[in-house]
Amino acid sequence: MTQFDYIKDIARFGLENDQEKLKDSLQEMIEHARKSKKTNLAIQLQSILKEAIRHHSSGGSLKTSSGIRFEAPNSKGVDELILDQVTSDYRLSDLICAPQIKESLDHFILEHRKKNLLQALDLPIAHKILFYGPSGCGKTLASYVIAGELEKILLVVNLGAIVSSKLGETSKNLAKIFKMAASGDYILFLDEFDSLGKVRDYSQDHGEMKRVVNTILQLFDYLPQSTIVIAATNQVGMLDDALIRRFDTQIEFELPTDHEIEELIQLTLKRGVFTLDSKSGIKRLIQKAKGLSFYSIQKTLIAAMKRSLYKLETDLVPAKVEIDKAIWEKLIEEEKTAISNSGKV
Ligand SMILES: Nc1ncnc2c1ncn2[C@@H]1O[C@H](COP(=O)(O)OP(=O)(O)OP(=O)(O)O)[C@@H](O)[C@H]1O
Ligand SMILES: [Mg+2]
Repeated sequence: MTQFDYIKDIARFGLENDQEKLKDSLQEMIEHARKSKKTNLAIQLQSILKEAIRHHSSGGSLKTSSGIRFEAPNSKGVDELILDQVTSDYRLSDLICAPQIKESLDHFILEHRKKNLLQALDLPIAHKILFYGPSGCGKTLASYVIAGELEKILLVVNLGAIVSSKLGETSKNLAKIFKMAASGDYILFLDEFDSLGKVRDYSQDHGEMKRVVNTILQLFDYLPQSTIVIAATNQVGMLDDALIRRFDTQIEFELPTDHEIEELIQLTLKRGVFTLDSKSGIKRLIQKAKGLSFYSIQKTLIAAMKRSLYKLETDLVPAKVEIDKAIWEKLIEEEKTAISNSGKV
């Protein structure tokens, strides 16, 4: 089919108000645009489609290029509270972490694979997990890994937005979100979980904070064991002890060790034809990168990969690109300066 044919289909299904066929045609046109290197068009159409799916109440789901599927919300009143509904292709092998973290995640995942067996034997299922630690060290990624491994839909909730926008409605909104999570095979991902602690700062009414924490505690208790709740925070100190204790599993994510930085480099290079030569040079760079998060290290490495590619001054796909270590080192230094200027680390 040509782009012209897709436009005709889209016009027809749009006028006939056939949402399903319209979305299918649009998705096909996006794929077509992507394949024919009309990236801008593909991105813009994808964004229109994603937005429409978020706001429409008709069902249906479709795969995007990232392998993540977007689904229409199916519960009235919660659409604006839920940031995203996604499925993921991430696996445990995508996450670099200490062996004991991998083991904890493995056990948590297994609980849900063996759910029926545990239920038959009347054994409790661990279903509430807390991720904490510095920014860019894998809390969100680990949530996507759990969703990917268990093939469940992740309901992403930004607690920060919910708590600060309508303080008085926080408890009611939380109840709505939990109800939706319990209504299907969902994983509820409560990002910025520390926002609950901030109710204290926002509210003039000192009882408000207690009410919100109590609501969450009750919602946790009534949630079916098959519904998973993941909470993430980089300020665990803001959280009430009673709240922390409710989690079946708590995992601390830390800045990468030397070995983990090496693994991150390998994982990132796997994406293409890029190489980093000379062992000793790498060791020095790892020392330079020490103290940065996985995210920052990966970001600077990808930027160095691109700049090394541009230096080849070709539009043909090269068989091999040697990453310029001096470029990467400079980017690492710049990242460190930017972070210390922003006062984050
Ligand atoms: N442990 C890790 N292993 C592999 N990649 C990682 C890891 N941590 C972070 N990354 C990379 O950095 C990106 C951002 O990480 P992520 O969103 O998981 O951080 P976070 O801990 O949730 O940070 P924040 O507290 O800011 O939300 C990931 O998508 C991934 O590309
Ligand atoms: Mg995160």
